[in-house]
Order: sequence, then C-alpha cells, then structure tokens
Amino acid sequence: MKRIAVFASGNGSNYEAIEKAFENHRYCRVELLVCDNPKAYVLERAKKYGRQVFVFNPKDYESKEHYEREILQQLQLHQIDLVCLAGYMRIVGSTLLDAYAKRIINIHPSLLPAFKGKNGIKDAFEYGVKVFGVTVHYVSPEVDGGKIIAQRAIEYHGESLEELEGLIHQIEHQLYPETIEKLVKEWENEGLNQC
Ligand code: GAR
Repeated sequence: MKRIAVFASGNGSNYEAIEKAFENHRYCRVELLVCDNPKAYVLERAKKYGRQVFVFNPKDYESKEHYEREILQQLQLHQIDLVCLAGYMRIVGSTLLDAYAKRIINIHPSLLPAFKGKNGIKDAFEYGVKVFGVTVHYVSPEVDGGKIIAQRAIEYHGESLEELEGLIHQIEHQLYPETIEKLVKEWENEGLNQC
C-alpha cells in the first residue's frame, strides 16, 4: 500500500478528485494534506475526509529550507511514498526534491512546455490557441519543468474562459488520479521498494 501526500494552496478540487479516486483503493491511499495557506478552501474539503493535515504559513519561517524541513519530518512521520502537488503554488526546494527524488509529481493546466506559471489556462486562452490540455510531470527545480509523465489535449473554439476552465478541470480530475494509479501500479509490478 503506497501512501500519498497531496500539497495544495487553494481551492483543492484536484485534491478532492484524488481523495475520491483512492478511497478503498487496492494499491494506494491518501494519508496527508500539506497546505501553505491557513485560509485555503482545501482545508474544508480535507475535514470531510477526516484527513490529517499539516498547515503552515511560510511567513512564519526564516526560509524555504526551514519550512521544508518541517514538511519533510511530516512526510517521514506518515511514511509517505509519493507527493502529489495539486495547485501548490510554490517552487519546491532541494530539501524536499533531494529526499523525494522522482517521487514528487505535479499537475499543470496546459500542454507543457507551453504556458507555464500560475495562469496557464488564461494565458493560453488569451494567446488564442485552439488546442489546450493538461500535463502531469515530475517536479524539478524549474517551475512547471521536469519530465512529462502524461498529457491530455482538448480542442476548444469557444469564447468563454469560464467554460474552458471547467472543461480543463474535468480533464485534470480524471488524468491526475489515473496517472497516480499507473505510477503506483508500475512500482508494485517492478517490485521496487522505493521507500
Ligand atoms: C489546477 O488547475 C492546477 O493544474 C493548477 O492550479 C489549479 C488548482 O486547482 N496548477 C498550476 O497552475 C501549477 N502551475 P484546485 O486547487 O482546484 O485543484
């Protein structure tokens, strides 16, 4: 049984999609939510699932290294195998990347490497592209960089950013749990004892 930690900063719809997908799952389960925003709506969602939560405010720490050391302690305490960033709007530093090499993944609402950053959907829409999409990738020191694991594209020719956002979020909520499941199954099949 692989244990997942989800990191989120805001709304948490992807967090919830992961919770739903792995309720009573054979290979993995969500064990911990890490949140860098004490006011984030994702914390309300986590209550519904009785999820253990580590909330912190980066402003309370001297540096990224200081708060990431605390996060790392939490990950180790909960014996976390895989970290899934889901709208976690911070660059992950070397403290976590070194400890969880190849075991931190992220979802981004564009077809990377296009439209990196915080407003992937809006930036693509305003640019006028017609093929949008979602990417799941390993996390590297570069924002929305790292090797791509999965992508799904969607054509959109409409005029509504809201409608487009809705369509892209639907894809995210399917693609992220599917990709996590695939990774975890590969680990099981390869018999890799990664943690
Ligand atoms: C998602 O669309 C996710 O892909 C995006 O933040 C949103 C979080 O929504 N992440 C990035 O833009 C990463 N650069 P959620 O809080 O409802 O899951």
